[in-house]
Amino acid sequence: MDWLPEIEFIFRRRSIRKFTDQPVSAEILTQLSMAAMAAPSAVNSQPWEFVMVTDPGQLAELRNVLPYGKFTAPAAIVVCGSKLSARNPAGLLFWQQDCSAAAENILLAAEALNLGSCWIGVYPIPGIPKAVAKVVKLPITVTPLCVIYIGHPTDQKDPRSKYDPAKVHWQTYGKKQDPN
Ligand SMILES: Cc1cc2nc3c(=O)[nH]c(=O)nc-3n(C[C@H](O)[C@H](O)[C@H](O)COP(=O)(O)O)c2cc1C
Repeated sequence: MDWLPEIEFIFRRRSIRKFTDQPVSAEILTQLSMAAMAAPSAVNSQPWEFVMVTDPGQLAELRNVLPYGKFTAPAAIVVCGSKLSARNPAGLLFWQQDCSAAAENILLAAEALNLGSCWIGVYPIPGIPKAVAKVVKLPITVTPLCVIYIGHPTDQKDPRSKYDPAKVHWQTYGKKQDPN
C-alpha cells in the first residue's frame, strides 16, 4: 500500500550527516524549539530544556565528545531533561519519553522546513551525558538526552518507510488483520 500524501513528510525525514556551511538562523531555531515544546508529555509535565548551539567553537567541542556524532553542522540542539522545569513529578519518571517526543518534533519540523537533521544519542551512554553537560555548562539538575544536528542538507536521501507488516499485530499478538 502507498503512503498517503498527507504524511509524506514523515517518510522524507532521513538522518542527514552532511550539511552546507549556510547558517541556520536564530528565528528558525526558535521555530524548532516551538515545535519541540508542542510535544506531548506525561501529565503535561514538560520536563525539557533546549540548548541551541551555533558557535563554531562550541560545535567543535560537542563533536569532540560525541564518538558517533563527529559531523560538521551549522547548528546543534541539545535536548535536555530538566528536574526543575518539570511541572510535576511525572516528569522525573517519564522525562526520557517526553524529551524523545520533543526531539522527534524537532526532526519533523526541520524536515518540513527543508532542513536536514540527525539525532545523536547521548543518554544513557556511560560518560557522554557528563561530557556534553560540561561543554554546554548544564547545571546538575539538567541531563542531556541527545544532540540534534541541524543544517541545510547536501546529502540527498530517498523517502522511505521501514514498514514491516510482520511487526504489526491485530487484536492480539501474532494475529494478522482479517482479510476484508
Ligand atoms: C536514540 C537514537 C540515537 C542515535 N544516535 C546516533 C548517533 O550517535 N550517530 C548517528 O550518526 N546517528 C544516530 N542516530 C540516527 C540513526 O542512526 C538513524 O535514525 C537510523 O539509522 C535510521 O535512519 P533514518 O533516520 O534515516 O531513518 C540515532 C537515532 C536515535 C533515535
